[in-house]
Amino acid sequence: MRRTDHHRTSPRALALAAGLVTQLAAAGAYAAPPAAEALVNTKCAACHTAKGDGKWDRISDSRRTPEGWDMTVARMGFAHGVKLSHEERSAIVKYLSDAYGLSPDETVAHRYIIERQPSVVEHHDNKVIGDTCARCHSYARVAVQRRTEDDWRKLAHFHVGQFPTVEIQAGGRDRNWFELATGDAAVALGKVYGYDSASWAKWKAQKPVDMSGTWRLVGHKPGTGAYEGSATIQRTGDDRYSVAMELRYENGATESATGSSIVYTGHEWRATVQQGGRNVHQVFSLQPGGAVLTGRWFEEDNDAVGGDLKAVRAGSAATVLSVQPAMLRSGSRASVTINGTGLDGDVDLGPGVKVRRVVARSADRVTLEVDVAAGAAIGARTVSVGKAQGADALKVFKRIDYVKITPDHPMARVGGAGGSTPKVPAQLEAIAYSAGADGKTGTADDLRLGVVDASWSLANLNKAAEEMRDVEYAGRIEKNGLFVTNDAGPNPDRKYGANNVGELRVTATVKDGGRTVKATAPLIVTVQRWNDPPIR
Ligand code: HEC
Ligand code: HEC
Repeated sequence: MRRTDHHRTSPRALALAAGLVTQLAAAGAYAAPPAAEALVNTKCAACHTAKGDGKWDRISDSRRTPEGWDMTVARMGFAHGVKLSHEERSAIVKYLSDAYGLSPDETVAHRYIIERQPSVVEHHDNKVIGDTCARCHSYARVAVQRRTEDDWRKLAHFHVGQFPTVEIQAGGRDRNWFELATGDAAVALGKVYGYDSASWAKWKAQKPVDMSGTWRLVGHKPGTGAYEGSATIQRTGDDRYSVAMELRYENGATESATGSSIVYTGHEWRATVQQGGRNVHQVFSLQPGGAVLTGRWFEEDNDAVGGDLKAVRAGSAATVLSVQPAMLRSGSRASVTINGTGLDGDVDLGPGVKVRRVVARSADRVTLEVDVAAGAAIGARTVSVGKAQGADALKVFKRIDYVKITPDHPMARVGGAGGSTPKVPAQLEAIAYSAGADGKTGTADDLRLGVVDASWSLANLNKAAEEMRDVEYAGRIEKNGLFVTNDAGPNPDRKYGANNVGELRVTATVKDGGRTVKATAPLIVTVQRWNDPPIR
């Protein structure tokens, strides 16, 4: 296990970090689609011998995400002097992502890294690879590439060639890094993340899907709550679209988003939209079948803040996408909205939940008043409207037995104060659980109920933090669980003039009727991330 945020090394990579996400997502950048293969021949083949048939030495020995291609093409610029205009760079990245990309299946386990999910603690799929490679950057950076064993070996050579100190950094002295990286690790990489795959062969053989049409969507934005809405997608060129979205939050707020997108590799949707007065990036993937789009969106200047999204094509198979609220207490009366598409027919919320009245209904949304029986069994319910179904869409509970804070290991970063690096907040949420029918917590029938309101408080995590009075300096937490750090830089008011970093303990206090349930988590407030490439 290692944080994705581990210590980084390359000063040169700084140049690479700036603006790449923007580059990729800024759609419509291509004036006219240049003949990209010819462009690779003129710009790259001087060093990467053309083998014909859209193949070049090194270039066609790996497959990557659009961000992965963009990082390498950028590196060819600053490390090997390759000069490309913005349009040329975009065209080459598009071409290589389509020709040498990853199928949806191949990215699914590690999408958090391209979605820029905050405070992820990684679990390495492979020990040798994890121990050798996830020391300076994330494991996922490796796992969203596919290469021949030989090309993985060449990547190890690149590390030592261009960053000669690699072997003595990040605990490198505990092993013979180069021998391992070109030996056991290269063999493991060739096996686990090898170039050839049945999934890619199948995906590449498919005809690309036209994304245009109306989509029904649902999602959740930590700190704001669940939302539902719709999107209109229109084709503006080859793999290029305009998008307009309406988001209606459970708390009554609404947001619209408009912008444009490029689809890479037939499924990698990258859009930049104006949403709530901000630039927001969308990193979604179109699922095989072409009717479901999933992913995360986040603020351009503050990627810790964003939401997840699931969209289904209107007119595709009838489905229940979400129920708001998603948790109902036994022995209560509640107003409930079912969101989905093709919601036509009888409504069934499972045993113990009776529809009292249909308040309003359309094919997209059914609003009901329901009675939950006092003796209704604790558990998840499948919700159906005619043929549309949503497994585990609703949870029936008796009481909140315990609460957990997410993310499990939140981390925030100081910043601002006129510096080039903005503050990185941590958005916390309190998740309620039921102990299930057995009444015992920590057993298999425990039930995750969902996000609940909490009041938040901060304390020093340990003795050192107490001595440094971290809680007075590191930052503050807002009502919705958003922890915002203090300014960066030495603080003359602090002991030793320390930076406003700190080790805190955050407590969420949840009211459940007359009872109070609490949860705590450590919250680390650390320094800026100076080098923040598209794939950390
Ligand atoms: C001036 C010579 C030169 C040019 C031109 C050049 N490259 Fe490279 N490229 C290199 C060298 C040297 C390496 C091996 C060292 C490294 O990875 O930096 C390399 C490595 C690579 C790799 C493997 C990197 C990895 O992740 O292991 C890829 C892919 C690549 N180049 C793509 C391109 C593309 C695409 C272009 C054209 C836009 C290009 N190169 C243009 C010199 C060049
Ligand atoms: C000592 C630190 C360190 C270790 C250990 C390390 N890397 Fe890297 N890696 C770097 C740096 C530095 C870069 C280039 C700069 C950056 O982060 O953008 C990089 C870049 C990469 C890239 C992106 C290359 C590109 O063209 O964009 C990949 C993929 C990668 N490493 C995989 C691996 C693999 C596989 C291993 C294990 C065999 C490994 N790394 C071990 C520091 C490390």
